[in-house]
Amino acid sequence: MSPPALVAWCPAKINLSLRVLGRRDDGYHELDTWFQAIDLWDRLEARRHERLDLSCDDDRVPAGPDNLVLRAARAVREHAPDPKPGASFRLFKKIPVQGGLGGGSSDAAGAILLCARLWGITLPDARAQEIAASLGADVPFFLSGGTARGTGRGDRIEPAPYLGDVRILLGVPPFGIPTTEVFAALAKRLTLPRTGVSVTRSSGPKCQGDNDFSFMANDLEDVVFPARVELRAFRDALLEVGARGALLSGSGSTVYGLFPETVDLAPVVERLRGAYSKWTIVATRAVPRGAFVAAPADTGVD
Ligand code: C5P
Repeated sequence: MSPPALVAWCPAKINLSLRVLGRRDDGYHELDTWFQAIDLWDRLEARRHERLDLSCDDDRVPAGPDNLVLRAARAVREHAPDPKPGASFRLFKKIPVQGGLGGGSSDAAGAILLCARLWGITLPDARAQEIAASLGADVPFFLSGGTARGTGRGDRIEPAPYLGDVRILLGVPPFGIPTTEVFAALAKRLTLPRTGVSVTRSSGPKCQGDNDFSFMANDLEDVVFPARVELRAFRDALLEVGARGALLSGSGSTVYGLFPETVDLAPVVERLRGAYSKWTIVATRAVPRGAFVAAPADTGVD
């Protein structure tokens, strides 16, 4: 019988705000963004194996060598003594693909933690962060999760006080949007300053108690909403049904609304499902953590 798998739980995120400050010489954009981890999880299992391989229950996820899980595994394996160990991964997707919810990035962060545990490697936090940043701009956030500010490419993470147990309603349309296309369209459309932008201190979102959602803003809406008018309409529908704030998450395609924790979202979900039958409408909430490794018996999440 094969040994039991180790499991990494990998949460989705929303961007509570996303400001684009300028264009960088490395082709990326300088951002000032606030991330929030949410209660929607991919599950990544790993067993020791003679080589590295991956299977996924969602055929929209390419499971070849360029998959971020396998790239993360190869980067962590550099820290293992010879002979280099292997792993067989199984990825169970719940986070929509190309939805602006960070699914692939979270899976990569989960894979870093999972491989270190599976192979008994002590990875200093700074090295884990470096590996994460080399895999993608959103990956470092998922190592700590919760509420955090991201500057630089979005990969310089400062953990912040937890936003609190706000309720979140996600609207995922029946199409995804590739991040690269959105930033390319933005670069064409706007005259953005070149690098060297200094980011001022920001006090960040404060939802606890005072329910002030006025910090919510996403500069990528300027290019995404004109091209996908149904996303703007859904944003407006969220505000009509009582969301205190509603925004595109990352580069889309998900649009979400924030509601005070006392609100019962069930009737709101019903109403929106009736009007947007092709969309996936999900009620969820903020969580104060990032990707983590659990033994198989410990499901970790509800
Ligand atoms: O880092 P990641 O591979 O997730 O980014 C996907 C794409 O999004 C990049 O190739 C780049 O085109 C764009 N991007 C950007 N500026 C950022 C983050 C992402 O231009 N800060």
